[in-house]
Amino acid sequence: MSTPNVQTIAILGAGQMGGGIAHVSAAGAYTVLLSDVTLERAEKGRFDIELRLGKAVEKGKLTAGQRAEILGRITPVEGLSRFAEADFVIEAANENEALKKSLFRQFDELCRPDIVLATNTSSIPITRIAAVTRRPERVIGMHFMNPVPVMKLVEIIRGLATSDATHETTLQVCARLDKTTVTSRDIGGFIVNRVLMPMINEAIYALYEGIGTATDIDTGMKLGTNQPMGPLELADFIGLDTCLAIMEVLQAGLGDSKYRPCPLLRQYVEAGWLGRKTGRGFHIYAKS
Ligand SMILES: NC(=O)c1ccc[n+]([C@@H]2O[C@H](COP(=O)([O-])OP(=O)(O)OC[C@H]3O[C@@H](n4cnc5c(N)ncnc54)[C@H](O)[C@@H]3O)[C@@H](O)[C@H]2O)c1
Repeated sequence: MSTPNVQTIAILGAGQMGGGIAHVSAAGAYTVLLSDVTLERAEKGRFDIELRLGKAVEKGKLTAGQRAEILGRITPVEGLSRFAEADFVIEAANENEALKKSLFRQFDELCRPDIVLATNTSSIPITRIAAVTRRPERVIGMHFMNPVPVMKLVEIIRGLATSDATHETTLQVCARLDKTTVTSRDIGGFIVNRVLMPMINEAIYALYEGIGTATDIDTGMKLGTNQPMGPLELADFIGLDTCLAIMEVLQAGLGDSKYRPCPLLRQYVEAGWLGRKTGRGFHIYAKS
């Protein structure tokens, strides 16, 4: 069965990823419903987009008129109150399997049966999330990279039951967002995090074992392997809670001890040192 023409995208989670996805969706001329647990959080997500667009206007990359048009397409909403209006859903809540399954059960109840339900999960198997719905053929992974407005890639993950029509609709949406896609099989960490997260975890072990300071590890990897950011700086940027959750999924899903999260990563998360978003991770940041 085909999927409908997409005009309205509902985005669940107005955090760093959901906000970025809302930004590029509105820039791609979609009507956007940006949802979070409370209306205040959803409004904060829209406000952050307004600030980013303001900077783009200051730099001459956007006109004030374009900024107003993009913002005008984004409506903050509380919870799932308006999900029945959506032609396409993108879930970007926290990386927690029980939470995502509960959300997909609710989407399945509230959303039209013909629409695609996408998740921005970094690592949880799509097949497992899809299985809690009555439409597993319409569930797909749409893994945006951070920061969404800057990063060109979206990794598409097909669950075991994902249909060709769902894949095709998702590719069309990504093309309208001006993104390049790669398609991955639904196996632990997909392509990008399967390779990236063990490297970040190993950098945390290097710090834990006192091999070098955080700055030396980052500078070594940046200048020694030509990466734009060092692995610890990148972990802070992604969020240490998200990094820990991904390592736990790799360890549980692939069953190999080489994926065990570094104890120092776990301790930082327990301390609430989650990286940039809390002002402290492996490096210290001014709070935004
Ligand atoms: N941070 C990254 O670099 C990155 C990259 C790619 C994918 N992801 C994935 O994107 C997802 C979101 O990550 P993030 O970094 O934006 O996290 P975040 O903590 O910045 O945002 C998550 C948001 O979801 C909201 N939320 C939680 N439960 C909700 C519910 N029941 N209803 C409505 N809103 C709810 C929270 O209030 C919060 O605003 C995760 O699955 C993560 O793995 C993250």
